[in-house]
Amino acid sequence: MKALVLAGGSGSRLRPITHTSAKQLLPVANKPVLFYGLEAIAAAGITEVGIVVGDTAAAIEDAVGDGARFGLAVTYIHQDAPLGLAHAVLISRDFLSSDDFVMYLGDNFIVGGITELIDEFAVGRPEAQIMLTTVSDPRQFGVVEVDEDGEVLGLEEKPPDPKSDLALVGVYIFTPVIHEAIRTLAPSARGELEITEAIAWLVDNGRKVRATRISGYWKDTGNVSDLLEVNRALLENLATRCDGTVDGSSQLIGRVVVEAGARVCRSRVVGPVVIGAGTMIDRSYLGPFTSVGEDCEITESEIEYSIVLRGGSIRGVRRIEASLIGQDVEVTPAPRVRRAHRLVLGDHSKVQISS
Ligand code: G1P
Repeated sequence: MKALVLAGGSGSRLRPITHTSAKQLLPVANKPVLFYGLEAIAAAGITEVGIVVGDTAAAIEDAVGDGARFGLAVTYIHQDAPLGLAHAVLISRDFLSSDDFVMYLGDNFIVGGITELIDEFAVGRPEAQIMLTTVSDPRQFGVVEVDEDGEVLGLEEKPPDPKSDLALVGVYIFTPVIHEAIRTLAPSARGELEITEAIAWLVDNGRKVRATRISGYWKDTGNVSDLLEVNRALLENLATRCDGTVDGSSQLIGRVVVEAGARVCRSRVVGPVVIGAGTMIDRSYLGPFTSVGEDCEITESEIEYSIVLRGGSIRGVRRIEASLIGQDVEVTPAPRVRRAHRLVLGDHSKVQISS
């Protein structure tokens, strides 16, 4: 079995945080989303991987290289325009040859890997095996109807009136029959060859399509709370390590990773927390489930349950929670405005004023 990883895509559907970089390289627990996918593919015993790249090819190729460090042999396939997931399969026909393959969308994060999906496929040998998860707004996804046994009955791409809340997660296993289905496709309303329609064609033509349900999933739909939750889940398994420097007046509690060149001074860090290489933490508090990227600066601030990307600087801010802070962002306090409380308090009153 081969793997086809889709890491192309245009900028048009990107959300603010990924405007300036490849969405597949957005880090969770300080590691790009795409790397978790590549590791999951390697863990499933697959070695031959095609990566479909588009506008951000240089950044992706720079980050992944020849794949050797993941134990993979990577072939890059260039997609000139973002004409759809099925189009990506179409242009990868030579690489895929007549093999079964797992298609993995590089901007999807799946907790728990794909080995189970591949095992299930091996047992039942359907024409396609897909992954589903319940989502709050299915209209942003491919939506699937499925019976109690996991047999797929129908699929629709981003329907205005979804028939279920089960969304297609970005991992699919196909036999070569999918190429036959793709040949029948015409561009959809958004001008793309939709893989969802190709799978619907398999169902309509009596081919067996099976679904596996998962939990623990994130995709770039602007849903920051899900991303923070995935970050939390990953940090739960953090192993303490200190390759940087921590001064005598700092306190590190619980599982904390301090990468090489990072410095922690006069601060309190309550793990799980990861502090990226070259980052400076000074007179600050970092609370649980926080990932701070490389070359950041956090001084006289408090932050917890958050992700700070590379180059972020936070100075004099109390307090930041449940936040995603993009690359090279600066956060500082607003200029001080005089505030006054005007009070008329009766005898024996008790008031609590937060100022
Ligand atoms: C694509 C698929 C959709 C699937 C989603 C998962 O959507 O078309 O069926 O649910 O990936 O990430 P897109 O990223 O093109 O909006």
